[in-house]
Amino acid sequence: MEMLKVNQLSKVYGDKMAYRALSDINLTVEKGEFVGIMGPSGSGKTTMLNLVSTIDTPTTGEVLINGKNPHQLKKNDLALFRRRELGFVFQDFNLLNTLTVEENIVLPLTLDGVKVKEMDQKVVKVAKKLGIDSILKKRIYEISGGQAQRAAIARAIIHTPQLLLADEPTGNLDSKSSRDVMETLEAINREDDTTMMLVTHDAVAASYCTRVVFIKDGKFYNEIHRGDNRQSFFQKIIDVLSILGGNAHDLSSIRV
Ligand SMILES: Nc1ncnc2c1ncn2[C@@H]1O[C@H](COP(=O)(O)OP(=O)(O)O)[C@@H](O)[C@H]1O
Ligand SMILES: [Mg+2]
Repeated sequence: MEMLKVNQLSKVYGDKMAYRALSDINLTVEKGEFVGIMGPSGSGKTTMLNLVSTIDTPTTGEVLINGKNPHQLKKNDLALFRRRELGFVFQDFNLLNTLTVEENIVLPLTLDGVKVKEMDQKVVKVAKKLGIDSILKKRIYEISGGQAQRAAIARAIIHTPQLLLADEPTGNLDSKSSRDVMETLEAINREDDTTMMLVTHDAVAASYCTRVVFIKDGKFYNEIHRGDNRQSFFQKIIDVLSILGGNAHDLSSIRV
């Protein structure tokens, strides 16, 4: 089943000084896939994710999620669609600092009027899955970056979205926390069959995906599939990146 289909998607920013950030991208993601989007800085990764997540609108082309084009929905329906069908994870966590972990996680359910008892059950379940059940009462400013990102993932999956979208989720984390977060995402993908799309310039993070799509200068460049060995997939990713160029500084600090 096709969870996401992107047809001839393009984005041009500005009008007088028009800048083509994305050109004629085609991509099909099947249900249960975990797709990584890679490319040098400025290649259009975030633009692509923002068009899929409906944060931004395409100049031409279309996005179909589960066969529906969310960009055609009216404002209220679009808000509902995003809240019910999509989950978002960002580089800077986007949590409310003065609220507790638990309060942050239930926020999407609160907006949807879910009963307190049902919310409590869901929070416990999702917090256990992410290994943050012992810090539910802590406020965001009291926890580590790795814990904050796991809280953000809990918030993103508590309503069991069809599609989880993450933009550089390990960008602000040390390598140990990055691995924990990626292992968590991998487990959610495997156990819940949640379809995921991850934008990253980190080859280690990308090696947890089942497929990596490379873009360069806003255009499709190449794609590779994981197979069963993450280590060799990592090496293949590094090889493509080195040909692709523009990421050399990102490769120097990498340990598998
Ligand atoms: N809102 C915007 N207005 C104008 N140009 C933008 C805007 N957002 C991104 N760009 C440009 O589009 C290109 C792609 O950006 P982006 O998608 O953020 O790249 P990436 O995430 O791969 O680093 C860059 O050259 C960037 O400067
Ligand atoms: Mg980006």
